[in-house]
Amino acid sequence: MCGIIGYIGKRDVVSLVVDGLRRLEYRGYDSAGIAYFLKGEIQLKRSVGKLSSLEAILPRNPSDGVSGIGHTRWATHGKPSEDNAHPHRAGTLVMVHNGIIENYLSLKKKLQDEGRVFTSDTDSEVIIHLVDSFYQKGLSLEVSVQKAVMQMHGSYAICILSKDAPDELVAVRSGCPLVVGVGESEYFVASDIPAFLSHTRNVIYLEDGEMVLFSPNGLEICDFKGARLVKEQHQISWDPVMAEKGGYRHFMQKEIHEQPRAIVDTIRGHVAQEAGEVLLAGTEEIGQWMENCQRIVIIGCGTSWHAALVGKFLLEEIAKIPVEVDIASEFRYRDPHLVKGDWVIGISQSGETADTLAAIKEAKTKGIPTLSICNVVGSSLSRETDAVFYTHAGPEISVASTKAFTTQLTALTLLAIYLGRRRGHLSEKAGKQLIHQLFLIPKQIEEVLAHEDRVADIARNFFRYRDFLYLGRGILYPVALEGALKLKEISYIHAEGYPAGEMKHGPIALIDENMPVVVLALKDKVYEKIVSNVMEVKARGGVVIAFAEEGDTELAPLVDEICFIPKVVSALSPILMTIPLQLLAYHVSVSRGSDVDQPRNLAKSVTVE
Ligand code: M6R
Repeated sequence: MCGIIGYIGKRDVVSLVVDGLRRLEYRGYDSAGIAYFLKGEIQLKRSVGKLSSLEAILPRNPSDGVSGIGHTRWATHGKPSEDNAHPHRAGTLVMVHNGIIENYLSLKKKLQDEGRVFTSDTDSEVIIHLVDSFYQKGLSLEVSVQKAVMQMHGSYAICILSKDAPDELVAVRSGCPLVVGVGESEYFVASDIPAFLSHTRNVIYLEDGEMVLFSPNGLEICDFKGARLVKEQHQISWDPVMAEKGGYRHFMQKEIHEQPRAIVDTIRGHVAQEAGEVLLAGTEEIGQWMENCQRIVIIGCGTSWHAALVGKFLLEEIAKIPVEVDIASEFRYRDPHLVKGDWVIGISQSGETADTLAAIKEAKTKGIPTLSICNVVGSSLSRETDAVFYTHAGPEISVASTKAFTTQLTALTLLAIYLGRRRGHLSEKAGKQLIHQLFLIPKQIEEVLAHEDRVADIARNFFRYRDFLYLGRGILYPVALEGALKLKEISYIHAEGYPAGEMKHGPIALIDENMPVVVLALKDKVYEKIVSNVMEVKARGGVVIAFAEEGDTELAPLVDEICFIPKVVSALSPILMTIPLQLLAYHVSVSRGSDVDQPRNLAKSVTVE
C-alpha cells in the first residue's frame, strides 16, 4: 500500500508534492512525509496521521530546490509513528517506498553487522541502507540501486534523492504501481495518475523490472541491468475535476451519484440495440476465444469478489457457462485445478490489488487465458491479462467502492449477453429485451437516488445499533454481502451478509430487537421464501428494514421500515438494489461522525498481501 510521489522541475516543489500526496491519500494515511532541498541540504519532514498533520509542520517557503519526494503511509511493518514514517534516510540518500521487502530481516542483520544503525521498525529502511552501502563505495546512484534490487525479494515502488545531485531523481518499480508524468520541462513519478493529473496528462507506464532516471537532460528508462528502453507516452483523457468532490459532502456520496453516468459510459460502444447484440468493441478477440470455453473461474477481492459472485449467476443463467468464483487470496495459494478450456477472469477496480494480480499470474503459469474487468486504464492487472474489459467508472477516490461495483456488474451483464447470444442460449428477442432493460438502469438509479432522504431517515433511526444482518437470496445474496461490507467498513458496525435460506441454520439464534435485519426482497421466484424469512425474524422480536420493489403491498405491513426500488428484471436487480444499500451505509456513517472517505485501517488499493 502507501502512495509515493517524486517531482523534478522549476515550480514550487513542496506544494506540488503535498498536492500529489493529497490525491494519493486513499492509498493510506497513517503518516505522511516529504523530502526537499534547502540551501543544498535535504530537509526531511514527517508526521503521524493524515497529510494535514504534515502540512501543519511545514515552514513557509520551505524549499529552494528543484526536486522532492513524498509519501503517505499505510502501515505494514512498524506502527504508525514519526520514526516509521517515510522518507527514510541513509548517508546522503533519502527514499520513499511502497510495497513490502520480504527478506528485510536477513538484509537488516547483514547491514547491522556492517555497522549500520536503523532508526525505524520498517522493512523499507533496509532499502536505502542497502543502496547506500553500494553508493558509499563510489558507484553511481543508478548502479547502486540496480545492485540493491538484485538482493531484494518482495514488491516495491521506490523514489530516491541524493544530496550530491539535487537535480536528479531515481525511481524503480517491481510489483507496485508507478507511473511517470511528463510535463513542460518537469517530471512527476507517482503511484497513481491523479497525483499529477492537474499538471500533465502525458504519462509513461513503468513495468516491473524498470527504473527511471530523471536529470537535467530529461528522463531515461532502463531495466535493472541498465539497458536503455524506449517507452511509449500515453495521453490521459480523464478530466481532473472528475477527481474532485463536485459539491458533494464526501467523495463516496459523489461517487454514488455518479453511477448513472458511469453505467452509461461502461455500456457505451458495446451494444447494437436493434440486433439485440453486445459488441465487445476493442476487445473482439475475447469473445471469439471465450465463446467455446468450458468453464470460467472469476476471482477478485472485497467488493470485486461480490461482483464475481453476481457474475456467476449472470453467466450461468444467460450464457449457460459453468462458473466458479474464488477469493483471489485463496485461489493463489491452493493450487487450483485448471484445465484446457477454462478461462480466468480477474475483477478489480484499481487493477493493482496484489492478491488478484498474483492469482492471475498463477492462472497464466498454467497456460490459462485471462481477462480482466478493470477500472484503471493501464493498471498492472489490465496489462497482465490477455484481454481487458474496461469499466468506465472514472476515478474512484473514496475507499468504499461504489460506482466501481455497479459498473463491474454492468460489464459482467454485457459479457453474459455477448456469450449467451454467441453460444445460442439467448435468443435475439431475449437479448433485445435484456439490453432494453439495461438501458433503463441509469434512469432507474436516478429514481432511487431521488429518494435518498428516505434512506437517510432510516439511517438516522438505526445508526446507534451495534450489529446488522443483511439477508438476500439467489442473485441478491452477493448484494447482501456487499451491503454488509459497505456498512462495516465505513461505520465500524458489525454487519453480516447471509443467504436468507441459511438463516435457520444458525444466525437465527442472534435475532432480537437489538440487531436490525436488512432484507432484500423482489417479486422473483424466491419472493415467497423471503417473506417467510421476514416472518421468522418478526416472530423472534426482530426488527426488519426491507428493500422491495414498487407496488409491493404485501411486505409493507410486515416490516418496520420499507424502501422501494423500481421494478427490474432479476438479472439487473443487483445493480439497482445496491444503490439504497450504499446510501444506507453512507448515511449511517455520516450520522456516526465516521471518516466516510478514509475509514480507519483501510486503504483504497491493497497492493500488499
Ligand atoms: O481495487 P480492487 O477492486 O481490486 O479492490 C478490492 C478490494 O480491496 C475492495 O473492493 C475493498 O473491499 C473495498 N474497500 C470495498 O469497498
